[in-house]
Amino acid sequence: MQNSEIKIGFITVSDRASRGEYEDLGGPAMQAWMALALTSEWTAVAKVIADEQNLIESTLIEMADIEGCSLIVTTGGTGPAKRDVTPEATANVCDKILDGFAEQMRAVSLQYVPTAILSRQIAGTRGSTLIINLPGKPSAISECLEAVFPAVPYCIDLIDGSYLETDDEFIKAFRPKHAIKPAHAHKSQQG
Ligand code: MTE
Repeated sequence: MQNSEIKIGFITVSDRASRGEYEDLGGPAMQAWMALALTSEWTAVAKVIADEQNLIESTLIEMADIEGCSLIVTTGGTGPAKRDVTPEATANVCDKILDGFAEQMRAVSLQYVPTAILSRQIAGTRGSTLIINLPGKPSAISECLEAVFPAVPYCIDLIDGSYLETDDEFIKAFRPKHAIKPAHAHKSQQG
């Protein structure tokens, strides 16, 4: 995959936001966090959709297979409420589930709020795309991304996705030494 083509998908899953009854705070919060975290050039593919499992699945598939997003983050629909189906949709479209992401997000989130236990958020891969569920609350978005993002770039390397670089001052990504590409240390080479 070409590094100049890094795309990140942002899906807000919310009945009310999709009907325009509620301002989408989650989508912009995820994009703002990513803008601070990544030094690589990337473009956003963003959608606000209702809590409908089929729609969530087709949106994930489109962003992964057609748009070629290296990473897709979702916000909302991870709780126990009857309409919350984001984890089910994610599980249905993923080839592999990465349990460690969910374990770490909930463990860290529980240090902030006891109701973090209510999020059924998961993460997994579909082809060369990593998908991560985040809760709907904007503060939860940064709490969860901080908890797992150090492992995200190397995970995407391992599935032959794009080479993502982060701003170490904001969030330091971990890559084994052999996986660090020297050419990418110099932004000038990317035009
Ligand atoms: N995780 C973090 N880090 N911070 C939070 O405030 N809120 C919790 C939980 N996870 C929260 C969190 C609450 S109150 C709920 S109901 C669940 O996420 C599910 O949220 P969702 O249905 O909006 O996805």
